[in-house]
Amino acid sequence: SDSASLIADGAEFLADRPAILRTIAAPGGEDAQQLRMSANLLRRRAVGDAVHLRGLIEFSNHCRNNCCYCGLRRDNRRLARYRMTPAEIVSAAERGAALGYRTVVLQSGEDPAFTGPMLAEIIREIKRLGLVVTLSVGEREPREYELWRSAGAERYLMRHETADPELYGRLHPGQTLAKRIALLKVLKQLDYQVGTGFMVGLPGQTPETLLADIDLARELAAEMVGIGPFIPHPATPLADSPGGIVDQTCLMVALARLALPYALIPATTALGSIDPQGRELALESGANVMMPNLTPRLHRADYQIYPNKICLNEEADHCRGCITGRILGLGRIVADDPGHHPLWLERN
Ligand code: 5AD
Ligand code: SF4
Ligand code: FES
Repeated sequence: SDSASLIADGAEFLADRPAILRTIAAPGGEDAQQLRMSANLLRRRAVGDAVHLRGLIEFSNHCRNNCCYCGLRRDNRRLARYRMTPAEIVSAAERGAALGYRTVVLQSGEDPAFTGPMLAEIIREIKRLGLVVTLSVGEREPREYELWRSAGAERYLMRHETADPELYGRLHPGQTLAKRIALLKVLKQLDYQVGTGFMVGLPGQTPETLLADIDLARELAAEMVGIGPFIPHPATPLADSPGGIVDQTCLMVALARLALPYALIPATTALGSIDPQGRELALESGANVMMPNLTPRLHRADYQIYPNKICLNEEADHCRGCITGRILGLGRIVADDPGHHPLWLERN
């Protein structure tokens, strides 16, 4: 079956919006299970059984923003802040290459101390190792995005977090959804593979806004979609809010697969942190990426965007083995190619 028919198949599942909204409202029900199975089948036909691994390097936990859900928010004074040196970042990437990862994700809070040219130099050094570089450093100037693209970065992750503009405004003091979307479009124009995504279970979220999250990912033609449960962090204004649940998060993963059959969709660490089988359940609901941690252990505990994050005491090689075992345990395989989006590869 060709790509047009797979895309049509996915669209068919999403055509009945009232039914989808009812399913989102009843994520433990039979319809939700059905959708997750359909997404798993579509995933298999569209992108196969391979799971792509991306080594995550959390290189700075300084952040100028004050997102109401995040432990790295600037008002959190209870956090020991760190920055890795460029040499430490490159050596973490080397370790990733030695473990067989083809991509490293350079992630940080929004930390202007890492200037555009500094990050460009780090990207160039990591490219020399033969790795694909994914950036996840938040909102920056379009010229910086351009500089980093020229330095060799090929992917950019920046979740839209919620497609409800009012909820976005309440959760992100001083920020707007419109700006976030405009920057995602800039990244698309620079021909990055662009990842967006959102949290599930945010206070004030409804089935309608969750469906809008899927619509937005599709409108942006996102190459990657990261979806994780909201996990309340004690040092934030949302400390006492309930968190997201596994079934609803996996259902949203399934809807993302149906909306974007060729997308790279991670089984997120946040899902693995609220349920020991969370990542496996996502891999069986449409996901095809995992992001093992490569951050030096010294800093792991301080990159606490949410509490009870897994792998705080595990070395990178342990996670490599753990993740491989989980993938093989599902009858899946670990990808050995760089794991680019197929439609982006055709353009490049
Ligand atoms: N719970 C779950 N996910 C969170 N993120 C930030 N804070 C939390 C939290 N408390 C997510 C955001 C961000 C990504 C890096 O981590 O979606 O984009
Ligand atoms: Fe900073 Fe990102 Fe956390 Fe917001 S979610 S406070 S931008 S690290
Ligand atoms: Fe780190 Fe399983 S992925 S221990």
